[in-house]
Amino acid sequence: MTTAVIAGVGPDRGLGAQLCHRFASKGLHVIVGGRTLEKIEAVADSIKAAGGQATACVADSTSEDDTIKLFDAAGGDVSLAIYNTGNNTPGKLLDMEAAYFENSWRVCCFGGFLFGREALRRMVPNGGGTILYTGASASLRGRSNFGAFNSSKAALRTMAQAMSKEYGPEGIHVGHVVVDGAIGGEKIMKGLPQYAERLGEQGMISIEGIVDAFEYLYDQPPRAWSFEVDVRTSVESW
Ligand SMILES: NC(=O)c1ccc[n+]([C@@H]2O[C@H](COP(=O)([O-])OP(=O)(O)OC[C@H]3O[C@@H](n4cnc5c(N)ncnc54)[C@H](OP(=O)(O)O)[C@@H]3O)[C@@H](O)[C@H]2O)c1
Repeated sequence: MTTAVIAGVGPDRGLGAQLCHRFASKGLHVIVGGRTLEKIEAVADSIKAAGGQATACVADSTSEDDTIKLFDAAGGDVSLAIYNTGNNTPGKLLDMEAAYFENSWRVCCFGGFLFGREALRRMVPNGGGTILYTGASASLRGRSNFGAFNSSKAALRTMAQAMSKEYGPEGIHVGHVVVDGAIGGEKIMKGLPQYAERLGEQGMISIEGIVDAFEYLYDQPPRAWSFEVDVRTSVESW
């Protein structure tokens, strides 16, 4: 059985958890990576209850040691690695603490480098594999009040593009999914209920639709690879 390593997994109705469910249902053994043991154990347990295979592994994506540990848990045969970790970090640049800006970059970009490097170290000797990154509107454009988040997500995207060009010839498909708008999941619906109400169901992107984009990239044959898929609602102004 081949393995998928997925970093940045939180509550069940979040993108990370739903990526785990989808790829487990396709027959992969999923290494469920995240910061909070109870959340990732709940995801792994529900995959196992549905007949799939999953292992929860606590790993902070900004830690090199934790990222190596996450891939060690997967063993040698990693066919898919998804870096979903990412926290929005709003704030005006004039008032921003240096550590706040740096932490945004560590979570969204530096962790993505560590993760991609460990995936490559396992996939290149095997001659193949897929590495996918979760992007946001921030990956493509700067916006007032989001300078820390925009710059780190944009840096993640160009790092992924470089990785794609560097290792494509060695059989590694690197892809990026631009999530262009709010996700209709727990983070927005529970964390920002008034914002969710303002957007309404039609104004929030379906998690299943985003997961479909990841699956589409994973299933592409080597003679028809995409680097990027963008996903937004029909009512998004962009
Ligand atoms: N939510 C949105 O509207 C939205 C919109 C566009 C793009 N995105 C992107 O989508 C991805 C997240 O999807 P989601 O919002 O549905 O959340 P999610 O996948 O449900 O959860 C992401 C999880 O990442 C974990 N995490 C944060 N920092 C971490 C770290 N340093 N190491 C390991 N794990 C860490 C958090 O775990 P804990 O809960 O344990 O802290 C969080 O629960 C991010 O890349 C985000 O930028 C989200």
